[in-house]
Amino acid sequence: MLNLWYKNAVIYCVDVDAFLDTDGDGVGDFQGLADRLDHIEALGADCIWLLPFYPTPDRDNGYDITDYYGVDPRLGTLGNFVEFSNAARDRGLRVIVDLVVNHTSIDHPWFQASREGHPKYRDWYVWSKEKPEDADKGVIFPGVQESTWTFDRKRGEYYFHRFYKHQADLNIANPAVREEIQRIMGYWLQLGVSGFRIDAVPFIIEDLKKPGDGLTPYDYLTEMRQFLSWRRAEAIMLAEANVPMDQANDYFGDGDRLNLIFNFPLNQKLFLALARGDGRAVGDFLKGLPDIPLVGQWATFLRNHDEIDLGRLADDERQEVFAAFGPEKSMQLYDRGIRRRLAAMLGGDERRIAMAMSLMLSLPGTPVIWYGDEIGMGDNLDLPERQAVRTPMQWTPGKNGGFSSARPQDCVRLPIADGPFSYAHVHAMGQHVDPASLFATTQRLIRARRSCPEIGWGQPQVVSGTPASVVALLYEWRGGRVLTLHNLADSPVEIDCSHVVGDDAVRPMLQAGIDIDRASNHSRIRLAAYGYEWLRLEPAD
Ligand code: NOJ
Repeated sequence: MLNLWYKNAVIYCVDVDAFLDTDGDGVGDFQGLADRLDHIEALGADCIWLLPFYPTPDRDNGYDITDYYGVDPRLGTLGNFVEFSNAARDRGLRVIVDLVVNHTSIDHPWFQASREGHPKYRDWYVWSKEKPEDADKGVIFPGVQESTWTFDRKRGEYYFHRFYKHQADLNIANPAVREEIQRIMGYWLQLGVSGFRIDAVPFIIEDLKKPGDGLTPYDYLTEMRQFLSWRRAEAIMLAEANVPMDQANDYFGDGDRLNLIFNFPLNQKLFLALARGDGRAVGDFLKGLPDIPLVGQWATFLRNHDEIDLGRLADDERQEVFAAFGPEKSMQLYDRGIRRRLAAMLGGDERRIAMAMSLMLSLPGTPVIWYGDEIGMGDNLDLPERQAVRTPMQWTPGKNGGFSSARPQDCVRLPIADGPFSYAHVHAMGQHVDPASLFATTQRLIRARRSCPEIGWGQPQVVSGTPASVVALLYEWRGGRVLTLHNLADSPVEIDCSHVVGDDAVRPMLQAGIDIDRASNHSRIRLAAYGYEWLRLEPAD
């Protein structure tokens, strides 16, 4: 039996080391996460995505793994992981984990054995006797990473690394490596996870483009999916695949490859639209969204643990977003992105932050929320690269925002202690009990989203004839009709919806400050500056 729970889910992403520290060592841990499941449950999310939590030298926030079958001792033990996942399941929360198999840390025993020419591991990585001519091309972290090939003295050859030089790419073309990847997946499935967020999917399959043992790149995704479904029917693969829309269906297959793909191009248009206060960049993009298999799904998001990658925008569009949200060089990263949190980019303006959250939740796909954005946390630009957006969760106005009893300088990353986004001002404890808080607003929005399977399952129609600043989407599915309206501009607008609403009764789902002109048959709706509303349309009595 197919279990398509992910079509109408809300995913909450957690970095365990930054969530809650219970043993006072300055590093968040699984016990802390288990203690704070209340927060996630109250928010209304029903699936937790854990960033990598495996043993690691931690030179890329855990995306540099030295053991796929363990837990970073700073975060707890495997026993603590199981306790946490059990507690999550008791509350009806699913857990998915990051599967980082494009590369390992160079400290991984497999790489150490490979560089020594160990017969079993010799071909587990991508080696070359000569430095390839294109070694300086395709670096992912320009400014920090110089090349994609580095010389290894012990082996006397160059190894390939798509990312940092301490992350050697596994040789996916080697069947023994693929078998090991299955073993890793099977292991975590057996421990109760509901699937994987798969890191760097286009780079995982690129090795298979070379003539090899007959497996083609996308066939490998089918192979992975088959294994996954055999082991656990409800399990999903959520892919980090920043690919153009016309390639997406290669990754979805006929519904037999990836379940979900992060819609990176949409995310970029979303920030362009927010920067302009003009919704057309989003509306136009949605009109060109390709059809995908019924069992496939987009994953939508505002921010994540990385920089906002604006690489798919035209140069002048990217400059517009930089000017609006990351004007200083220190806010930009890798010549393509912005390393800031949502609330900070939107100047802490709660109307605008809530509207952005609402807009994201109304887009086609399954929403993914980066921890802390639900309370409007800020960033710390003094931290290097993407660490800026990974500061400890702010629970209380007390020491370290209630994250840890350690000295601030001993915390995994420095808690934000100064300025308008400091834990004195922005903390979950205060927001939990304040019905006007961003947390409470996000809660209401998530409740609305989960009550609209039309969005998870249907295709949006971009409503025409609305003011340029507005994104108006109509979803119809199994007889249900939902209209979502967002005003991206700093001034009120009036929207004529008569051609969509017809004779239907209009039931506002959020009451977020709209003004419906009843005299004109509910079809003229006024939205405040940065106003928004979701309307259920039902046949009039
Ligand atoms: C994508 C992850 O999101 C990012 O944080 C990481 O640095 C790279 N993959 C390499 O694993």
